[in-house]
Amino acid sequence: MLKKMKVSHLEVSFNGERVLNDLSFQMSAGEMLAVIGPNGAGKSTLLKAILGVLRPQHGTVLLDSGKKRTVIGYVPQSRAIDEETPVSARDFVSLGQVSGFLPWHSASERQTLKDIMAFTDTLCFASKPVGRLSGGERQRAFLAQALVRRPDLLLLDESTASLDPEAQIRVMDLVRRAARDWGVAVIFISHDLHQVEMYADRVLLMARDFSLTGDQETILNDPALLKKAYHSAETRIYPESGDGSRMGDVSFSS
Ligand SMILES: Nc1ncnc2c1ncn2[C@@H]1O[C@H](COP(=O)(O)OP(=O)(O)OP(=O)(O)O)[C@@H](O)[C@H]1O
Ligand SMILES: [Mg+2]
Repeated sequence: MLKKMKVSHLEVSFNGERVLNDLSFQMSAGEMLAVIGPNGAGKSTLLKAILGVLRPQHGTVLLDSGKKRTVIGYVPQSRAIDEETPVSARDFVSLGQVSGFLPWHSASERQTLKDIMAFTDTLCFASKPVGRLSGGERQRAFLAQALVRRPDLLLLDESTASLDPEAQIRVMDLVRRAARDWGVAVIFISHDLHQVEMYADRVLLMARDFSLTGDQETILNDPALLKKAYHSAETRIYPESGDGSRMGDVSFSS
């Protein structure tokens, strides 16, 4: 379990253009942090820096789980799978398992695989080729692949973006259970502010020229701040408003 994660003064530039600028925040076990902000703000870049696949020019990412190695589960933003991929969903999920010394899975690894597939409700299509799964099934398989590592930290990059509302809830409920029951710290990127309101404990708002963290209510209930971040009309749509009056804030050109 993650004791502490501390991102300090992170700075990442591409070709001289600064994408992350002096970004700092902290997280602890079981916490769900949503990362929101406009396209190009650097949200995916942040996850890659935390993963260590991208080297920041300045700053540090400290991961303390009390173990030699902190395990990170990651579901990237876009992962295309060829429809003809000859891999079953079960084998696909097991690819996430950190391999030991043996070239086959031990009994305990097989049990973990079964447990995680039961948890993510993926056992029912375990033998199906992964390329033939529906979008929702596929996302649950991706999540299972990330969870089968028993991660201390789970990074989700717009994992539910293409799913219908029911499927989104199904995936995010699983994520929340992993956070609450196993203490997995979760960072999830989302453009769906209603989802953020439902699942985030805290929010990291990333704009192109500033970033800040705060509790979910404070950030989501500050239209001026959101407007400043998105450089556009108020982005929050209130489905419960009924008369659609808040929609008036969003202009559409034809
Ligand atoms: N490997 C790279 N080389 C050069 N530029 C990059 C690289 N990766 C990202 N960028 C640039 O960094 C900026 C931030 O990209 P990033 O993918 O982190 O944005 P994002 O906030 O995740 O956006 P979105 O909401 O569209 O997914 C963009 O301008 C992008 O073009
Ligand atoms: Mg992105």
